[in-house]
Amino acid sequence: MAEDILAGKKIVLGVSGSIAAYKAAEIIRLCRKAGAEVKVVMTRGACEFITPLTLQTLSGSPVAMDLLDADEESAMGHITLARWADWVLIAPASANTMARIVQGRTEDLLSALCLATEAPIALAPAMNNKMWTHKATQQNLAVLSGRGNYILGPASGEQACGEEGEGRLLEPEQIIALLSQLMVPKRLVGNRVVVTAGPTHEPIDPVRYIGNRSSGKMGFELACAAVEAGAEVILITGPVHLTTPSAVCRIDVETAQQMYDAVMDISDADIVIGCAAVADYRPAEYQDKKIKKADSECSSLALIKNHDILAAVSQRKEQPFVVGFAAETDNLAEYAKDKMKAKNLDMVAANLIGKDMVFGSDMNALQVFWSEGEQTMATAFKSHLARELMTLIIERYDAKNSIKNT
Ligand code: C5P
Repeated sequence: MAEDILAGKKIVLGVSGSIAAYKAAEIIRLCRKAGAEVKVVMTRGACEFITPLTLQTLSGSPVAMDLLDADEESAMGHITLARWADWVLIAPASANTMARIVQGRTEDLLSALCLATEAPIALAPAMNNKMWTHKATQQNLAVLSGRGNYILGPASGEQACGEEGEGRLLEPEQIIALLSQLMVPKRLVGNRVVVTAGPTHEPIDPVRYIGNRSSGKMGFELACAAVEAGAEVILITGPVHLTTPSAVCRIDVETAQQMYDAVMDISDADIVIGCAAVADYRPAEYQDKKIKKADSECSSLALIKNHDILAAVSQRKEQPFVVGFAAETDNLAEYAKDKMKAKNLDMVAANLIGKDMVFGSDMNALQVFWSEGEQTMATAFKSHLARELMTLIIERYDAKNSIKNT
């Protein structure tokens, strides 16, 4: 079980001021049940919602609240805790706490600790849905993710303030499951992973092209998740406005043909994940001068088919583990499974597209199929989904290799 990985881990649990602070009690209980040691740091706001005594009793350790605590041996509690922690988990993380961490503030123990620690930090946000969707919070969130912090949730549903929407703290069991996943060892060390991402642009003339709305976010998140798992990652991307994840080798392409060439150039990939929205067709002829408007009411453009990149990869003699994506507006499972068969994929991750869904969004939901099973991944940040999907890919990749080797 993934939770086993918590055994022996030293976790600093930061609790900030949210009505969900009471859930920290259950988080502590679950961590300790799984064999982790927990030390709690509370903000002043958190103490308004749950007493330090409750969390002290459950964690079996004094709760720290003040930066300059005269009772502490060296009055350097933040440094001691920062060094002690294998992981810092902040649950619930309020909008205020997130903002303070972004700014690198140090007037309270929790934010000072986040600045001082080298341990990975996971935050489980909890707040009113308007506060959550506010640009300020979303920008803070982007900064936190960009710095390599892990964001767990939030969930959506009925809120304590009576409103409905995103911003609820994930349930303690979900938080522990995700934290455990993050602690999973680097199982892809020595493996080469190729990820395709973004759209392709198929030029019509020097001014125009055929393109699509793919933002590339999911592919970039998958590249991050593969790096986290220890892989050497090559990210082949169409035109996108995204920053290259650290430790990733990025190859920029424009057309489907260029993407095909770049992918086929890599003969020793262990895993290929086709997340790009590759144009199925390109203009039959490129006009090197801008096409002028004609008098007629109608015009047509002849198209020819592009190579199917994944189908070609999965026909290779040394076939890597091949994962495809399927964005569908209907009949999701049926079309996705057909695609898996037609392209000879090891796995297909399908998502329903429609109004406000998927393209350009930071959120997504997936239904993943492979020959012996399927798994549903509920709506979440693409960064979170990418890690969940990567865990499943590694599992199936290992299973395929163990069959090959017997
Ligand atoms: O056939 P369709 O475009 O629906 O399939 C989507 C999946 O196939 C995605 O994983 C996409 O990256 C991949 N694909 C490809 N080459 C193409 C078209 C799609 O690799 N020419």
